[in-house]
Amino acid sequence: MTHSVTFSEVEKKAHKRGMNFKEIKELFYKKENTTPTLLLSKSEIRRNYDALIAALPRVRIHYAVKPNAHDAIISEVYNRGGNFDVCSAGEIEKVLKTGIDPKTLIHSHPIKSIPEFDFAIDKGLELFVIDNPTEVEKLTRYNKKLKIIIRFRINTNSTAVVNLQYKFGCQLEDVLPLAQKIKETGHDFYGLCFHIGSQCTYSENYVKAIESAHSLITQLDTDGFNTRLLDIGGGFPVEYTEPIIPINEFCKPIADAIDYHIRPGIQIISEPGRYIAATPTTLICSIIGKAQRDGKMWYYLDDGLYSTFSGILYDQCQYPVVSNITGEHKLSVLAGPTCDSFDVMYDGLMIPEHNIGDKLLFTSTGAYCEVSGSNFNSLRRPDYLVID
Ligand SMILES: Cc1ncc(COP(=O)(O)O)c(C=O)c1O
Repeated sequence: MTHSVTFSEVEKKAHKRGMNFKEIKELFYKKENTTPTLLLSKSEIRRNYDALIAALPRVRIHYAVKPNAHDAIISEVYNRGGNFDVCSAGEIEKVLKTGIDPKTLIHSHPIKSIPEFDFAIDKGLELFVIDNPTEVEKLTRYNKKLKIIIRFRINTNSTAVVNLQYKFGCQLEDVLPLAQKIKETGHDFYGLCFHIGSQCTYSENYVKAIESAHSLITQLDTDGFNTRLLDIGGGFPVEYTEPIIPINEFCKPIADAIDYHIRPGIQIISEPGRYIAATPTTLICSIIGKAQRDGKMWYYLDDGLYSTFSGILYDQCQYPVVSNITGEHKLSVLAGPTCDSFDVMYDGLMIPEHNIGDKLLFTSTGAYCEVSGSNFNSLRRPDYLVID
């Protein structure tokens, strides 16, 4: 059963990470602020970026824009020397505003509509991911020589919370024929990539994929293909309601596997999304309704499953609930503001009794949250407030 956590517990944890919780606390207590609001900490973006590059010294970061394409995240990553992974015309337009060279972006969507493909080429992108022969045929439309990355999948005993190997990725034995087909279209087989799944707590899955990449590179060498890039995807885990090991410990076996298996001339990139974007955002909500039903306290919030909490549904995630109210914890339900009965975020939560107008904080709500929300019931969606 999940309990809410107190401000001091969150403050202690934030402090340990080097995050200043003071500003969040001040905004929480400010009387006149409107809710729901998403507080986005720029310094936390920088800390996450720096922690990941320190943990993976050979790896260059291409922030995967999909979990959160907020301009502040894009510019912090860019100012830190980071690059981007994009999947659509909209994402390309957003990152190009930084002034980044389009040739250096990776377009990681293995299936691109012709208009999306044309748009990316027109904007100057050169690095594309494919995973099947039909997608390779689309390359014949383009005269400019493109750098093509093949996405493969691996089988693992333990899977990530979000499985990204179901919809995409070719089998290992399909890689050589695909490289051959790319060559026949006049384009350049450039490298390999994989994505072991999002919120993956098993570093051994990356290690296994890196070992597979090594065998593939050896076979590709024999057949005369020059592998210049390995993209190890995203997937790095974030602490939500369950503790996870620090990122440097998590990445150590991955960094070692890269050093051991992948020769120095091959460029290594990664496409982290969640790890960069999740913890910088904190949601502040207000309680707008209260009822007692079936022996439980029901609280209705001004944000719900159809908006920021859509991550509960699409990302299989639970966000820590933080309250400044103390007292006996009672069996409670947190529901959203729409008129739909499905709009329930937490059922069976233990929290002290609250009243209308009280606020709650939800930490680590920056990745795969508001991006998958909707305007159902035409309710107000939360605004972002960029802090520190
Ligand atoms: C191709 C690709 N790269 C990177 C990511 C980001 O993954 P994560 O947020 O787990 O780091 C995703 C997530 O869906 C993806 O599909």
